[in-house]
Amino acid sequence: MRVLVIGSGGREHALLLGLAADPSVTELFAAPGNAGTEAIAASHPVDIASGEAVAALARKLDVDLVVIGPEVPLVLGVADALRDAGIATFGPGAAAAQIEGSKAFAKEVMAAAGVRTAHAEVVDNPANLDAALDRFGPTWVVKDDGLAAGKGVVVTTDRAKARDHAAECLESGHPVLLESFLDGPEVSLFCLVDGETVVPLIPAQDHKRVGNGDTGPNTGGMGAYTPLPWLPDETVAQIVEEIVKPVAAELVARGTPFNGLLYAGLAIGADGPAVVEFNARFGDPETQAVLALLKSPLGQALYATATGALADLPPLEWDEGAAVTVVLAAENYPARPRTGDVITGSEGEGIRHAGTARNSDGQVVSAGGRVLAVVGTGPDLAAAREQAYSRLAGVKLPGGHYRDDIGQAALEGRITV
Ligand code: GLY
Repeated sequence: MRVLVIGSGGREHALLLGLAADPSVTELFAAPGNAGTEAIAASHPVDIASGEAVAALARKLDVDLVVIGPEVPLVLGVADALRDAGIATFGPGAAAAQIEGSKAFAKEVMAAAGVRTAHAEVVDNPANLDAALDRFGPTWVVKDDGLAAGKGVVVTTDRAKARDHAAECLESGHPVLLESFLDGPEVSLFCLVDGETVVPLIPAQDHKRVGNGDTGPNTGGMGAYTPLPWLPDETVAQIVEEIVKPVAAELVARGTPFNGLLYAGLAIGADGPAVVEFNARFGDPETQAVLALLKSPLGQALYATATGALADLPPLEWDEGAAVTVVLAAENYPARPRTGDVITGSEGEGIRHAGTARNSDGQVVSAGGRVLAVVGTGPDLAAAREQAYSRLAGVKLPGGHYRDDIGQAALEGRITV
């Protein structure tokens, strides 16, 4: 099977490595890829926002499957263009991808599906903002309605900060959602979804704030670990039955079935799991940890999903033990990351490239905010953490920073449901 992966992040590097380990995958291509993916997949520059361009590339490469990594092409309908061209595609069409593209749409689907989520109000007129803020908080949760690369959400006990973020979104023409704060530890549960068929992967936890101890601004994610020793065994099945399946069925009922990876971001509160957000693609950096433990052939799972045969896929198998991924970010990330710094040690074990490129001398340089992620695995969380951090010690990036507490609260038994 010849597979083209669209995107250039750590998630796509992890997907490509997973696909490369599947004996049924004979050739891999990345568009556009990064300095790390080029070792396993030929890189092809393409405008990933253009369905026409991606379909033309897929035809030229004569691929059997296209896997779309990031949300932007999904929301823009690149999967629709590929399917219209008769190419098997992993990733939802534009209509179903609105579950991530519009927070207001996601709320409407959840209400129709009877799924537990935070109470929310949409504000689209600055004149209504102050009264709406008074009906929420503290704590205030303010979300940009549209896509914002993980940086559209502000969670704060400071009303002025909440107001500033909401006003900024409104000024740039985006409605905002104000939400009640959901208490409880967060879980990222990725599910392969093909219409009403849902197959969960193992649950992970992201670390969204930039600093140790969950301090500083939100980011796209600074590290993750899997599985979650504190999560009761039955909770994944509960999330699938009470949340993911009803949402998948609602999208089918609307005539816009979801096909691809539905990512449920949840808070596990006293009353059970509730949805914080849905995403229409694999999460980053959780994917780097989750796929490190997948034993089943990834290509066959993605192909079965893409071709409507997920119900026939044998149960997924997983390695025992744990995986931890730690993101190395560029100086000034998430505000205005500096790029162009030479990175050394980035060819080491367990490295998943994200914001990397090659300079004219062929050196690997930083080219984005989250530069790379390092994955460690082991028989338990402590061993996986140790391996991730010892691998990270071999990577040097001027001004680079990372959290040194990924998975630590779980390890110390400080997370309870
Ligand atoms: N890890 C958060 C995200 O992928 O959106």
